[in-house]
Amino acid sequence: MLVVEGPSGNGIGRSVAPLLGCDFVESRHALFPDGESEVGIVGPVKGNDLLLVQSTYPMQDKRLVELLLLADCAKKHGARSIGAIIPYLAYMRQDRLFEGKGNAVSINAVLEMLSFAGVTSLITVAPHNFESLSAFKGSVTVVDAAVPLAEEVKKDVENPFVLAPDEGAMDLARRFAEVLGCDYAYIEKRRDKQTGEVDILKEPKADLKGKEVIVVDDMISTGGTIAQAAKFAHSGGASSVIAAAAHLLMVSNAYDRIKEAGINAIYGTNTVPYGRAHMVDISDAVAAAIRGAAKKRMQGIDTEANRL
Ligand code: R5P
Repeated sequence: MLVVEGPSGNGIGRSVAPLLGCDFVESRHALFPDGESEVGIVGPVKGNDLLLVQSTYPMQDKRLVELLLLADCAKKHGARSIGAIIPYLAYMRQDRLFEGKGNAVSINAVLEMLSFAGVTSLITVAPHNFESLSAFKGSVTVVDAAVPLAEEVKKDVENPFVLAPDEGAMDLARRFAEVLGCDYAYIEKRRDKQTGEVDILKEPKADLKGKEVIVVDDMISTGGTIAQAAKFAHSGGASSVIAAAAHLLMVSNAYDRIKEAGINAIYGTNTVPYGRAHMVDISDAVAAAIRGAAKKRMQGIDTEANRL
């Protein structure tokens, strides 16, 4: 098997290849003067099983097209099978139809494009919504980010409490709290259907006084969600507030927004490059999940069971 790192693989492919006992191949990429991408795989593609590594953080569309072109290269040059490790999979939040919006279910379109390009297995880290991945025609392996992130945070806290900023992050909070050996809770949010504004519907009954509160989420985009939770934690008497998320997109002044809300430190993973946080390398977890999925397949256990 060959691991091929795309232009936004963040070095994860290079680290994962030896962990899986695979050869590593760089991809080639260039831009035409009009902005079109041109990619290539300089390696022995024919007859090989390929794992393409490409994260799809902003510019999402560009990263996605590069990945589709790489998959097409692999197909055209005779790869035996094509898998895609997409550490951050974009479009996961566009996973349903909204009344009156005339929108696309964009994640479905992305999954279909991957299949069309020849990708038959998908490996991704901490997806926003597990269920929407079932629309993918091939096998899916989900890599858990909660444990590696929590293990890193554990080194720096003594009196922790884990807080999920919404119900969707509750399972993440539970797994985080298990590693830290502490309690957790979640905030019930309400989103105004007209304005999109989010406010707190119900505060959790949790004693945060003197606690080091860790607000956990799958991703930080604009930082609005984390900032709201941080303010709540401070109002409850937290001694410090840490933000931890798998994917630090950190767009639209997110750093300033969450700092102003009283976040003392940020933890994330290298699914998205970001220079102002404690970064956890997710490569070991990716390799372990792939090995685990392969073992389960060999034992005849359905791939659904591989989702963490
Ligand atoms: C939403 O359900 C997600 O899990 C995140 O909470 C959200 O996408 C974060 O976005 P932002 O940082 O812009 O609030």
